Amino acid sequence: MTTSSATIPVIPGLPVIGALLAMRRDRVGFQIDTGRRFPGLAQTRMGLMPFPVVIASSPELVGEILVDHADAFRKAPGLSLFGKPLLGKGLLTSEGELHKRQRRMMAPSFVQKRIAAFAEAMVERGDRAIARMHDGETVDFAEVTMRVTLEIVGKTLFDAEVGDESSEIDEALTECLEYIITSVQRVVPVPPGIPTPASRRYKKAVARLDETIYRMIRERRASGADKGDLLSMLLAARDEDDPARGMDDQQVRDELMTIFLAGHETTANALAWTFYLLAQHPHVWVRLQEEVDRVLPGGRAPTLADLPKLPYTLQVFKESMRLYPPAYMVGRQALRDVTIAGQTIKKSSIVVINIIGMHHSPSLFPDPERFDPSRFTPENEKKLPRHAYMPFGAGSRICIGNHFALMEGHLLVAAFARSVRLELPPGQRVSPEPLVTLRPRGGMPMRVRMRSHDAAHPNTDVVAHLG
Ligand code: HEM
Repeated sequence: MTTSSATIPVIPGLPVIGALLAMRRDRVGFQIDTGRRFPGLAQTRMGLMPFPVVIASSPELVGEILVDHADAFRKAPGLSLFGKPLLGKGLLTSEGELHKRQRRMMAPSFVQKRIAAFAEAMVERGDRAIARMHDGETVDFAEVTMRVTLEIVGKTLFDAEVGDESSEIDEALTECLEYIITSVQRVVPVPPGIPTPASRRYKKAVARLDETIYRMIRERRASGADKGDLLSMLLAARDEDDPARGMDDQQVRDELMTIFLAGHETTANALAWTFYLLAQHPHVWVRLQEEVDRVLPGGRAPTLADLPKLPYTLQVFKESMRLYPPAYMVGRQALRDVTIAGQTIKKSSIVVINIIGMHHSPSLFPDPERFDPSRFTPENEKKLPRHAYMPFGAGSRICIGNHFALMEGHLLVAAFARSVRLELPPGQRVSPEPLVTLRPRGGMPMRVRMRSHDAAHPNTDVVAHLG
């Protein structure tokens, strides 16, 4: 027996546009609120979109959608349509056989053993950022982390220094992201093929990025060198079912652009929010600092081998991604009618996997607004229902860079914490801005206190901080 989709509760909103206005006004608040009021499936309309938007906010249902019935869904058209000029048929946007083949070919490059080789470069780029900081100055820490992760992705993807070009690349990417997100949220969507001033700016920004990426592919093909970076791995990757088959230039470009985008903005935001939370929770900061100072005496740089000795550091990073998941939702579209927990999601419905809603649910995370890294001790993490915490998504499209991101976050939280304390200027609050990822709106101004590792004055900054 099939139940009609009318049985999926409807989120109150205006006729025709449904909850679009509420979503536009405060997307994060809307998703958290919907997760609490409708801890299963709920539906609304989005402007003139001819099909409903279904929001899924329970771990069991999310498992059914992303794992058990994954073949009944494709990615939501927003990113695929509006992101196409930027991402082409890269992993984030490809579907079906192409996605399967590309994922198979690329997965070996992202296993823990391969990415371990990048640990040193990650810390080194973090240390460059620290070296650029001065005691007492106020920096936009979101910009700092964006530059560090962009440099890291540049180094690990292309073995290239993108330092000098980073602000230009970042500007071009921001231009693209703003275009994509405003297009997705329009009451009347305008496909990117229709020339408007915004779509022309978008195309120009893509062309600027293309110039950099194609230059890098050309140089590498010409040199034939194996630099041990992801570009060399992609050029060498072969389909195990058809070993003669590699990727053509266009596919390599699409995958690079995808990793370039997916691989830096998310981690940068996670790091920025982590230090934002640390600045507001002195007791967490003290515990983190104690761990970091014990494992890294004299403020020496963290290495891969140190990571198992820095468990609290990782818990802090994970808890920060619970409160501020950089990918606050993932979207799907139903390819046919699908019945989930007795309710039918109609063909073509858009399904929003409400990651941030679940992360803030009081039934999944008691006292959900409290920043409490002990939620992520190995014992406590094991007790969480499957898919309750999913900053990296789930199922066959789970983030391919999750080990990369966790290692990068773990190393950089340790690297920064051993060298600097970041304070929020009095009264400063930062709210999240949901572009494609959850960015700090208007940046994240923070005051820098360089930490001293003078044995005669241990932890003076901690004492000062606790007052
Ligand atoms: C904290 C950092 C990160 C977060 C929170 C994050 C989150 C996610 C999420 C939620 C998805 C699933 C999207 C979906 O199901 O529709 C995803 C996919 C993806 N991520 Fe990440 N990501 C992070 C870092 C990275 C890094 C460092 C890389 C690469 C170096 C990367 C590359 C990708 C790619 C290529 C996909 C598409 C996978 C596929 O569809 O097969 N991500 N990411």
